[in-house]
Amino acid sequence: MKQYDFLVLGSGVAGLTFALNVAAKGKVAIITKKNRAESNTNYAQGGIAAVTSKEDSVEMHVRDTLESGAGLCNENVVRTIVQEGPARIAELIELGMKFSEREVPASDGRRELDLGKEGGHSKRRILHAKDVTGREIERALLAAVAEQPNIDIFENHFVIDLITSHKLGKPGPNRCLGVYVLDKATGQVETYEAPVVLMATGGCGKVYLYTTNPDIATGDGVAMAYRAGAAVANMEFIQFHPTCLFHPKAKSFLISEAVRGEGGVLKTIDGVEFMDKYHPLKSLAQRDVVARAIDSEMKRTGAAYVHLDITNKPARFIIDRFPNIYSTCLKYGIDITKEPIPVVPAAHYQCGGVKTNVDGETDIAGLYAVGEVACTGLHGANRLASNSLLEALVCAHRAAQKVLMEPHAPVDVAVPPWQLGKASNPDEMVVVSHNWDEIRRLMWDYVGIVRTNKRLQRAKKRIANLQEEIDEYYWDFTVTSDLLELRNIAIVAELIVDSALQRPESRGLNYNLDHPQPAPAWAQRDTVLRKAI
Ligand code: SIN
Repeated sequence: MKQYDFLVLGSGVAGLTFALNVAAKGKVAIITKKNRAESNTNYAQGGIAAVTSKEDSVEMHVRDTLESGAGLCNENVVRTIVQEGPARIAELIELGMKFSEREVPASDGRRELDLGKEGGHSKRRILHAKDVTGREIERALLAAVAEQPNIDIFENHFVIDLITSHKLGKPGPNRCLGVYVLDKATGQVETYEAPVVLMATGGCGKVYLYTTNPDIATGDGVAMAYRAGAAVANMEFIQFHPTCLFHPKAKSFLISEAVRGEGGVLKTIDGVEFMDKYHPLKSLAQRDVVARAIDSEMKRTGAAYVHLDITNKPARFIIDRFPNIYSTCLKYGIDITKEPIPVVPAAHYQCGGVKTNVDGETDIAGLYAVGEVACTGLHGANRLASNSLLEALVCAHRAAQKVLMEPHAPVDVAVPPWQLGKASNPDEMVVVSHNWDEIRRLMWDYVGIVRTNKRLQRAKKRIANLQEEIDEYYWDFTVTSDLLELRNIAIVAELIVDSALQRPESRGLNYNLDHPQPAPAWAQRDTVLRKAI
């Protein structure tokens, strides 16, 4: 049994920011299932959207976010996050984060933040560190965490489940008391107790066959919160990034939207521009529009991909602005300064999640969720590019202020140790990997960019069968991280399908051929799922 004041699940920007903000007031454990730098944040290329230029305003950023969110954003939440962004950015710079700068024209060498542009933004407002922004944020935050004696980091530790008062059969409002954690090195399951548990576990891209996300993105936070009885909202809104590198050997490599922001143009493989048929903003339209347009062009032409062409820019500019994209594509034999990049849409971001307010509070006392795992109301039906790191920074800071101002009472309930299953049977591990593949493929085929009721129903049936099998393994065998992830992606798949079935309209990222128009009655209406326990 380990006891802390604050448990932080996940080591991306949300988790690290929260930990740094509470460490002066108590002992913090950060629990992460791989190494500390392996988070969704680490792979963010584009950057952080925030109002830092005189040409821009909070009003304009709010308007762009609401427009992208297609009538489903919570305007108060949008306004709070956009307004508080600049102060959080200033703190990040103070901490050592180095954003890219540029020389102010005709200024005798004065420098300013270099602001990028992405789809749906009416102004240049994306702060970035070339095309490796997430890596630079992780570096700066982890360096700060390393100096905090009050923070312990547990790497290669997989959180199995939340421990709640209701699960222990206690009466009264449900309260989170801690977590059960698998130490992957020893195979032992340990109990961690704390009055405050913050989930910063990221999203669920791995529920789809093709994704820009790293392997860790298996929806663990949403799945465990749902199992514990928390409300989960708007899971039908899975954002497909329009441009993931198409190459047989490249796994999940994103081609940042900033490439289009700097002049990259989408074309068919015959070299014909096509976005003017779909939206006046062409290649820089909102992501849902661009991903659907690419999907439709691929279906129309029978091609397996489209092209993204940035060869209209000088080679020196491309190599300096996008060093990571340039060198990675070159590794696969594509010189992006001379030839177009083959790209396809891929699952990228979960806009829904565990329902929270702007302070990260869930409906289970002591349980907070921040970042991609949470649904605050900022993103609505379609996230505006680069708003997610902003949300993570602002809401993690707000959650920290909240728990410091309104502390939770210490855990005073006897928490039983984890019950170990029987020995694992290596033959059965084949079944785990088979079920993994089946879920990811059926989600791609039946619950992708364009949906129908029939395909959703088919997916629902298959997922229910798979879940029965998974439950059997889960209770019969010793838990492994593969089995735990499988259980989580199956639950998340079920939540996405059920939410999509609940929404009888097309809005933002939920496009259903049986209901191709938005329904006014569903504007401002979330789909909310909660497990009866
Ligand atoms: C990108 O660089 O295109 C990703 C930015 C984002 O998803 O916000």
